[in-house]
Amino acid sequence: MIRRHLPDDAATRLLAELLAAHQPRGAVVHLQGDLGAGKSTLARAWLRALGVTGTVRSPTYTLVERYPVEGGEALHLDLYRIGDAGELDFLGLDDIDAELWLIEWPERGAAALAPADLEIHLAIDGAGRSVELVPDGQGGNAWLAALLDDPRLSTLPEPKP
Ligand SMILES: Nc1ncnc2c1ncn2[C@@H]1O[C@H](COP(=O)(O)OP(=O)(O)O)[C@@H](O)[C@H]1O
Ligand SMILES: [Mg+2]
Repeated sequence: MIRRHLPDDAATRLLAELLAAHQPRGAVVHLQGDLGAGKSTLARAWLRALGVTGTVRSPTYTLVERYPVEGGEALHLDLYRIGDAGELDFLGLDDIDAELWLIEWPERGAAALAPADLEIHLAIDGAGRSVELVPDGQGGNAWLAALLDDPRLSTLPEPKP
């Protein structure tokens, strides 16, 4: 697990760039945290880092937005307004072989979702945010190891005691 303090928006965006730079193919990311914790800020910066230049729409009502990226497509889901997990079936996500899945409110999609390679827990912490990166499985572990080797990570402060 990696824990860091994110003093401002720019720190959230830098974290997104670092995660994008080292992401494994087909990565599944669960973005967790209350409203306002910075999940969408992170997702938008991540998509930008992958070269998405047009509007990054909020998937709040559509549940999913899809973007072409190098090697395939990136999916951004926000399940805050989902009625029940059965609604996910109608989206036909099972057939999609995406390069990246960024999923806000994954707990509302429950068992219908692929298990995460990486869980990102964001929380409001004073004027900034705190983040915990929790890997799951080999892909997630290798990802965080690569992140720890990236000198840019050291520009993000350690969490306050
Ligand atoms: N590290 C940070 N420090 C301070 N404010 C932040 C940080 N990251 C994001 N924000 C701000 O928090 C607000 C809510 O962010 P948002 O990404 O919409 O949250 P969520 O999707 O979790 O509801 C935005 O105004 C955003 O600019
Ligand atoms: Mg959001």
